[in-house]
Amino acid sequence: MKLKLKPGMASRPRQVVDRLASAMRRKIGLKKLDLRGKPVPLRKGPPEALLGFGRFVANPRRFGGFVSGPALAAAITAEIDPAAGPVLELGPGTGVFTRALLTRGVAERNLILVELDPKLAARLRIAFPQALVLCCRAESVTPDLLEGRCPAAIVSGLPLLNFPDDAVERIIAATFAVSASDAALYQFTYGPKCPVHKDIRARLGLSAQRSARVWRNVPPASVYRITRS
Ligand SMILES: C[S@@+](CC[C@H](N)C(=O)[O-])C[C@H]1O[C@@H](n2cnc3c(N)ncnc32)[C@H](O)[C@@H]1O
Repeated sequence: MKLKLKPGMASRPRQVVDRLASAMRRKIGLKKLDLRGKPVPLRKGPPEALLGFGRFVANPRRFGGFVSGPALAAAITAEIDPAAGPVLELGPGTGVFTRALLTRGVAERNLILVELDPKLAARLRIAFPQALVLCCRAESVTPDLLEGRCPAAIVSGLPLLNFPDDAVERIIAATFAVSASDAALYQFTYGPKCPVHKDIRARLGLSAQRSARVWRNVPPASVYRITRS
């Protein structure tokens, strides 16, 4: 059990005792009680929406803007077959789609999470210890990085509308190159059409169909299924 003491704390025994007590509570999973004896939840970091907002402020283009709601998370994972094999998730961010994949029945050890933001990647490693979490650009995935796993499906939380076309093309090409030949990539968008432009799809031999429209999301979104033609 680690007890972190700030400089000068040794002269304030009350704070040392408080820190030691909360470290012990964390260790044995005990909840702190409030004055009425009700358990006070242990601090696990900021809630998702707040964390997402913080990362958006830090890098608006990269984060995109909104943390997806549960209806979009359910729609983007609806066609995933948990028995088919590993699932590659691009830009998992706060883990909204990741949790929906687990709810769908995908085993945590079958998740490959590719997140560029080191803070979010570190959080994902803690939340999903059995998943393979790669802190790198989606466009740089290789079979080596994936440790030989061949994704049966891809779920993307990347805000593709914020990216230039050449970056979108590199991401889509790289992810299909490491995935099974019949793998489908599920991509959300707030726009009226598939965020992977038809010229890019034609160059990469891909086709796209809208698999869901999600009105109960803020803002309303669509999900596209992109497969090899
Ligand atoms: C819209 S956010 C998170 C999506 C998540 N489904 C959610 O609703 O919380 C997109 C995420 O993609 C990550 N990202 C952006 N560009 C990336 C890239 N090239 N490779 C991997 N991750 C990237 C961002 O850091 C961010 O966490």
